[in-house]
Amino acid sequence: MRFEPSGKLAGSLTPPPDKSISHRAALLGAMSAYPTRIGNYLDAADTRSTLAAVAALGALVQTREGVGGGLEVVVRGTGLREALEPEGPIDVGNAGTLMRLLPGWLASQKGRSYTLDGDESIRRRPVDRVMVPLREMGATLSAREDCLPPLKIEGARLRAISYEMPVASAQVKSCVLLAALTADGATTVGEPAPSRDHTERMLKRAGVKIHRFGHHVTVVNADELVLEEVVVPADPSSAAFMLVAGVLVGKSRLVIKDVGVNWTRTGFLRILRRMGGIVVGEEEEAPGSDLSVDEPVCDLDVAAGPLTGTTVEPEEVPLAIDELPLVALLGCFAEGETVVRGAGELRLKESDRIAGVVDGLRSLGADIEDSSDGFVVRGTGGLRGGTVDAKGDHRMAMMGAVAGLASKEGVEVLGMECAAVSYPRFVEDLRSLTAR
Ligand code: S3P
Repeated sequence: MRFEPSGKLAGSLTPPPDKSISHRAALLGAMSAYPTRIGNYLDAADTRSTLAAVAALGALVQTREGVGGGLEVVVRGTGLREALEPEGPIDVGNAGTLMRLLPGWLASQKGRSYTLDGDESIRRRPVDRVMVPLREMGATLSAREDCLPPLKIEGARLRAISYEMPVASAQVKSCVLLAALTADGATTVGEPAPSRDHTERMLKRAGVKIHRFGHHVTVVNADELVLEEVVVPADPSSAAFMLVAGVLVGKSRLVIKDVGVNWTRTGFLRILRRMGGIVVGEEEEAPGSDLSVDEPVCDLDVAAGPLTGTTVEPEEVPLAIDELPLVALLGCFAEGETVVRGAGELRLKESDRIAGVVDGLRSLGADIEDSSDGFVVRGTGGLRGGTVDAKGDHRMAMMGAVAGLASKEGVEVLGMECAAVSYPRFVEDLRSLTAR
């Protein structure tokens, strides 16, 4: 699909519902014995996989179309300890979050066993990062080469542990927190730097005793979860593509509405502002030690303007992990150098996003180099254009499209359809900002 250089962008739109929060709401709903209503659930490939997975585990799932494009979902769960054993493997599709969070619940299903499998991309992404803590808690797990899906889990009575994660990963943290709900005491998880905290907020909301001390979270086991209702905000990671289009395409003015602005998701906004990007909104401030139960939202006003390069430090990486390809794109248009380091995790996403960003942007005319854990871009004031292969990665496809609008000659994106993993209406939404 081709994306031609665009005149100014204008108008407003609400991005799709948050993918991370949708996955968590469906999973916690399934773990609860009471019905959970989820408003504005993301209707996309990844989060459809989660609904199918919890249904296979015995939850009753009802969906209908909601007013804003999201789904209204009711999940009547099985309770914490009663997940059914499906006959075949559970197919997570392309969803890394499902692949890593669900084992936390299933590991506690004593006497039952489960197999999780997914698409080609999932089969290349490591699961040993969740196998290590879940084995320590007493479950039996096996995987191809002890590292890659399919992942087999034999549930057990779990022990409470204290676990220091070697990398900051919200997925691994969440997995251990879910397992901790049925362990025999209080479990503590430590992370080297803060990562998104949607699981912690939702567990607290569901009545679980959970506390944060610095980079550590402690959760006490629970008899039941009572979540009742979750309303999912618009996804800041999906919003980021529109924000970047607004910043890069000359004279643009956009309003991106109802965006989730939990501080652990707004690292990209802080980086963008540091580069000189004009974005106005009332985001959540850096949290103190008290865990919030809310997911704050606000509208973001964005305007095009000149940018300067910046350095993204390793501790900022988990707070902007999915937006780092966009930092590279911004760097192409900025004055000076833009450097990202400490982001080796990008190699383990839906595709190797360091290689994808560097090859993709270079083929469009960028001056960019990779390192083992990041990249360096020297801004040249613009991008020529050319072809980007999404390689099945939704975020790479959407980055290519935005690059096209801001480029001199346009960009052809190969495999644009994979945007449906997180943002099915992406192309229509982007075009609606250019249509006059
Ligand atoms: C996610 C956490 C991040 C992120 C992914 C969604 C989540 O992964 O890249 O898109 O919902 O917890 P890691 O926690 O593995 O970095």
